[in-house]
Amino acid sequence: MDLTQKIQQLKKEKNAIILAHNYQRPEVQEIADYIGDSIELSRKAAEEKDAKILVFCAVDFMAESAAILNPNKKVLLPCLGARCPMAQMLTVEEIKRVKKQYPKAPVVLYVNTLASCKAEADICCTSANAVEVVKSLNADTVLFGPDSNLANYVAEKTGKRIIPIPQNGFCPTHLLFQPEDVKVLKMQHPNAVVMVHPECSAEMRQNADFVGSTSKMCRFAKESKAKEFIVGTEEGIMHRLRKENPEKEFYLAYEGAVCPNMKLTTLDRVYAALKEEKNVVEVPKAVTKKAKASLDRMFAVKS
Ligand code: 13P
Ligand code: SF4
Repeated sequence: MDLTQKIQQLKKEKNAIILAHNYQRPEVQEIADYIGDSIELSRKAAEEKDAKILVFCAVDFMAESAAILNPNKKVLLPCLGARCPMAQMLTVEEIKRVKKQYPKAPVVLYVNTLASCKAEADICCTSANAVEVVKSLNADTVLFGPDSNLANYVAEKTGKRIIPIPQNGFCPTHLLFQPEDVKVLKMQHPNAVVMVHPECSAEMRQNADFVGSTSKMCRFAKESKAKEFIVGTEEGIMHRLRKENPEKEFYLAYEGAVCPNMKLTTLDRVYAALKEEKNVVEVPKAVTKKAKASLDRMFAVKS
């Protein structure tokens, strides 16, 4: 039996399901029961009734959200070192410090945060629903973190005053995208449509035809009449885009746009985690209760 077959067999024996983010390696996407963006994976985790084990092929904060939403299930992160550097940029102390300056402003936190920070938030959001979440709040000034690019995007779309916490949180992978590279690709493929993630810089967004979460990009590519696309997000998404749209062409806006943490999940590690039921993601009870409330408020917002 090859590794994929062994994983499939273990999955059945242990009543496990595999959830994989759109940035995962192609072979990991291929063994997954569900592939999606942060909110879709969180929703799947929240809805899951039968499985006893959730193998979360992504980074720490996504697996933590799954654990928060499923306190009675085992959530496994195949590589415990798979951490999102942006999520590490915000601390509970920083939230409390800024909150003192703006006591009336609600705290909206991108799901790319540690569980301890989510517990301090009024509401969570993902890149797919950040605009709707902020619009839903009865407040003109909002504290928003940790991504300052997403914060800018939300400010543009809502017209509200958005205070970024911390001042300059960013995704090191999306920072790699530069408008000059898109210009060159546009010259080579003049009919190509440009789609980018809101974690990209304001310049990248301004030159894009479409801005959205990873799954929104997949949907846009499927529904669009265009035949060529320039893609401004992590390279793992190219597998799904090409698989779902074999008749269309996709060009990554920067070939080096790799999230090294997302790539730490390999088939070997998925197999080992599931076989030994190791790398269980655990969130303290008190944090779980408060963080779940912030996530549930997000789920209640229509988007
Ligand atoms: P999505 O929710 O769009 O998948 O984004 C998650 C992420 O980490 C982007 O870098
Ligand atoms: Fe974090 Fe950026 Fe990697 Fe997404 S791509 S997990 S934001 S470092």
